[in-house]
Amino acid sequence: MKRKKLPKLESEIIDTVSLRRNNTQEEWQLDVRKASIGPDSIDIRRLYGDSKMFTWDPGFTSTASCTSAITYIDGGAGQLLYRGYPIEQLAEHSDYMETCYLLLYGNLPQPEEKEQFVDEITNHTLIHGQLETFYKGFMRGAHPMAIMVGVVGALSAFYHDSTDINDPEQRKLAAHRMIAKMPTIAAYAYQYANGMAFPPPKNKFSYAENLLQMLFSVQSEDYVMNPKIVKAIDRFLILHADHEQNASTSTVRLAASSGANPFACVASGIASLWGPAHGGANEAVLKMLAQIGNKKNIAKYVAKAKDKNDPFRLMGFGHRVYKNFDPRATVMRDSAYEILEELGIKDPRMELAMELEQIALNDDYFKEKNLYPNVDFYSGIILSAIGLPTNMFTPMFAIGRTVGWLAHWKEMFSDPDFKIGRPRQIYVGEPARDYIQMNDRGHTNRPLRFNKFWQR
Ligand code: CMC
Repeated sequence: MKRKKLPKLESEIIDTVSLRRNNTQEEWQLDVRKASIGPDSIDIRRLYGDSKMFTWDPGFTSTASCTSAITYIDGGAGQLLYRGYPIEQLAEHSDYMETCYLLLYGNLPQPEEKEQFVDEITNHTLIHGQLETFYKGFMRGAHPMAIMVGVVGALSAFYHDSTDINDPEQRKLAAHRMIAKMPTIAAYAYQYANGMAFPPPKNKFSYAENLLQMLFSVQSEDYVMNPKIVKAIDRFLILHADHEQNASTSTVRLAASSGANPFACVASGIASLWGPAHGGANEAVLKMLAQIGNKKNIAKYVAKAKDKNDPFRLMGFGHRVYKNFDPRATVMRDSAYEILEELGIKDPRMELAMELEQIALNDDYFKEKNLYPNVDFYSGIILSAIGLPTNMFTPMFAIGRTVGWLAHWKEMFSDPDFKIGRPRQIYVGEPARDYIQMNDRGHTNRPLRFNKFWQR
């Protein structure tokens, strides 16, 4: 079979649009660039130079920040493709290592490629002995995401032979190292919190098996593998592997655009992922279910979520791109049921989650705003069923997403239009004014101004 060549990152100009400033009658022609699927884009790069105006798009709701050939999402159709392959097919037939290869290298691996890739990743799973001592500097109760941001950032102090971003071999080594070490780093954060020794990675295990054994084995006893749990974790990793230009991936790209080393860039991605609006939502969902407590409180919390003056939101609901359903959530829900059945767990939180889902899905507010359960709504149920505490949920997401961050990081360097990321702003502050000497600033009996400053 002939292998498909990777698409180039340039997008063809297929049209122009005219932009007219009505007050002055000035007009500018802007190129329209073609996407292989999905919306085309208006190329506004010359706009500032030509018109002396910026475009304004807080939260990047209408802005494409790059060209990319890695992942495609059709939010209306609930479609997610990695390098063209539907997520449902990958979740059913692929495994995480193969998916990593696909995302990084653009095609499904041939048998020899897969073997070699798995071999390389397996050879990098250990972390430097000196890095293990790093953990001791953290409080036992530290959030594992805090440890991950620190330890992954610290990798750049250990692996000097893979920080030169201009050397292709070093780029590859850094990427393979991070994919390999992320389970070790996350599992050790968990073991450290429990006051346990760090189980070494074992080469005989698959990626998901190794992650599980490092999380759950103790010195006196080996972890007994349950193939269904291994499969569920492998699938969890596939479902989280990439999601195009989300907040953490954009953070990695922005950090990398300055030429920062890859370990520092991925640490910045982990930091961004941690927020409850993004990867931290899986932890927040379980906290929310605990807060709701039982079915009779659902109506009260749904009302709170709809109240503009209440900061409470239904965690695990809504998505910037998916406006119909999140295809990852569908797979994750089935997986959650399978695991609960396999382990014989009757988790009341699952019932609560199902009831909440039904009530929200039939509520006009949620229907009008197209708010559906996302991947994080169900993932916590699986992770909790296998015995992980809620604060380990987002580290699990980070393990899966590392390959996505790295695929985008690598892609950036192949982009002929690659530039340091540097957004502009609409400045609405004071115009230039002269410095006022202290004695000329007057006095106030009112509450000091700076105490109010931090309120929203
Ligand atoms: N509960 C209640 N109302 C909501 C929710 C929610 N979960 N999500 C959005 N809304 C409302 C929001 O108040 C706004 O209302 P209005 O138009 O009246 O101002 C409207 O829906 C649009 O919301 P938005 O915040 O402007 O939409 P966004 O695209 O900026 O935010 C989101 C997307 C995922 C951050 C948001 O839906 C949210 O906070 N959800 C809960 C957190 C969550 O589950 N995050 C995980 C996302 S999936 C995992 C991943 O990151 O990959």
